[in-house]
Amino acid sequence: MKKFTHELVEKNPWVLIGLVLLVISIGGLVEIVPLFFQKSTTEPVAGLKPYSALRLAGRDVYIREGCYNCHSQMIRPFRAETERYGHYSVAAEFVYDRPFQWGSKRTGPDLARVGGRYSDEWHRTHLNNPRDVVPESNMPGYPWLEKAKVDPASVGPKMAALRKLGHPYTDEEIANAAKEVEGKTEQDALVAYLQGLGVLIKAKR
Ligand code: HEC
Repeated sequence: MKKFTHELVEKNPWVLIGLVLLVISIGGLVEIVPLFFQKSTTEPVAGLKPYSALRLAGRDVYIREGCYNCHSQMIRPFRAETERYGHYSVAAEFVYDRPFQWGSKRTGPDLARVGGRYSDEWHRTHLNNPRDVVPESNMPGYPWLEKAKVDPASVGPKMAALRKLGHPYTDEEIANAAKEVEGKTEQDALVAYLQGLGVLIKAKR
């Protein structure tokens, strides 16, 4: 029998392809499999709860209005980013984000830790017309959010659907969802959503 030589691999594309696939699969498994067992990627950060009814509605407004086209929600672990935005993002912060809003497009600043940085009033003014607070801003205004009401009937069923996917909502939270958003505007919901972003991890300075 012919000895297994390097020449055999070089002259036989199919053997080469087979071996390349084998090596890549092992490399891939070594990188990916541990992520399923590490606490830092599977367990929510301390204090993380599924979105409240109002914040969930706000998140839907955020997605509907396409805020992600200009804003990422992922702070990378680089000095320039952590100095500007705060502690870098960790996977365990996004356990209840379906789908997550990480993105990479930054026409505007990253919003992963914008919660608590400004007052609710600032956000309201800014959403109505960004130029009222940041004169050089090229962010579009969203003045209609101030008038549009959140549909109370739509939130409970969304929470029930998320519970099927593993978000630990209680029956009570789902039953009270409509009451929580009753009479709230889409702007109220969006501001509530923004004000909670990234507040569980504070940068150590
Ligand atoms: C066309 C791009 C664009 C879109 C779309 C956009 N923004 Fe912005 N956003 C910006 C820019 C540029 C800034 C920086 C200037 C400013 O503060 O207005 C900004 C700033 C912000 C800030 C302040 C962040 C900080 O740290 O100072 C918030 C909050 C914000 N945007 C929220 C939103 C929300 C919510 C939406 C969707 C309803 C949205 N943006 C849509 C471009 C955009």
